[in-house]
Amino acid sequence: MKLGTGAKGARIVGLGDYRPHRVVSNDEIAQMVDTSDEWIRTRVGIRQRHFAGEGESLTDMAVAASGKALAASGLGPEDIDLLIMATCTAPSPIPGVGPTIAHRLGMKAPGAYDLNAACAGFCYALSSASDAIRTGSARRVLVIGAERLTDWVNPLHRGTSILFGDGAGAAVVVGTDDPGIGPVVWGSDGAKREAIIVHDRSTLMEMDGQGVFRWATTKLAPVARECCERAGVDLADIDVFVPHQANLRIIDALVRALGLQHAAIGRDIIETGNTSSASIPLALTRMLERGEAKSGDLALVLGFGAGLTYAGQVLRCP
Ligand code: UT7
Repeated sequence: MKLGTGAKGARIVGLGDYRPHRVVSNDEIAQMVDTSDEWIRTRVGIRQRHFAGEGESLTDMAVAASGKALAASGLGPEDIDLLIMATCTAPSPIPGVGPTIAHRLGMKAPGAYDLNAACAGFCYALSSASDAIRTGSARRVLVIGAERLTDWVNPLHRGTSILFGDGAGAAVVVGTDDPGIGPVVWGSDGAKREAIIVHDRSTLMEMDGQGVFRWATTKLAPVARECCERAGVDLADIDVFVPHQANLRIIDALVRALGLQHAAIGRDIIETGNTSSASIPLALTRMLERGEAKSGDLALVLGFGAGLTYAGQVLRCP
């Protein structure tokens, strides 16, 4: 058996995003449930989120974001030999959405599968892509994080309806000599499975918001530090920090705990809400577009959510 035939490293060479057309303000949410713009801004940091509508299925959004990522990478659909679709909001379990997305993009028989690690999904998928490239199982991988959370959130429950939105982000990952995706630090705690849960197909999401908040603000800073250690970089070298966009207070607590005074911080939650596995690629794409992050910057990404699951790694911005 021949081992080690893959590339030395992997890196992202193109990112793309899709935000649904309909923008929903806090005032609009406050017409449905007992809340206010002021409460949401202060306790969560969100000003608006996007809700998917007609022509914006999970697959439609993933295809749109992927098309932009491919265009940014200079590669075509025929160049991709593996597609990993991170999502926890597929409309049905059979078949997975990955093969349909690949077909819609015009890819020629790539490996294609769905990966459900909830809000940590993009980081899990990025690591799987990097590993596949380094072992020689794939050469160029399309990684997608896409969610249509509004299908699974009760619009009349203020504990969740204020938080979530829809969207998709995608990244093209290729082999390189110079590694651009560090080792993943990942884990889970299935004892806390009820913290964020859809019990069965006839019910909607339930969440222990305070419990998740406590977990995220106490357990995840050490994970972020370990990501840097495993990548062989100092926290002080991190140019860009993009944690999952769950709550601005969680983001700010992580920034304080890590002492990241000089890094650019992803705060896309303000304009996009919590989009689960899409939140990290959406935030990173926007930061690059706005010049808050630059090509070649060292970024630390950290996803966390239902499962409970978490995953993070250091990467070079495309
Ligand atoms: O992406 C998946 C991961 N998910 C998360 O990371 C979510 C993490 N959790 C959170 O972001 C927060 O826990 C929430 C935003 C869900 C809730 O914020 P909180 O600061 O933890 O609020 P709370 O549940 O402690 O409630 C505080 C007060 C309560 O009133 P009293 O009992 O103090 O009078 C609630 O009834 O705020 C009330 N409240 C609200 N008021 C207005 C709870 N939700 C709302 C609301 N609008 N939407």
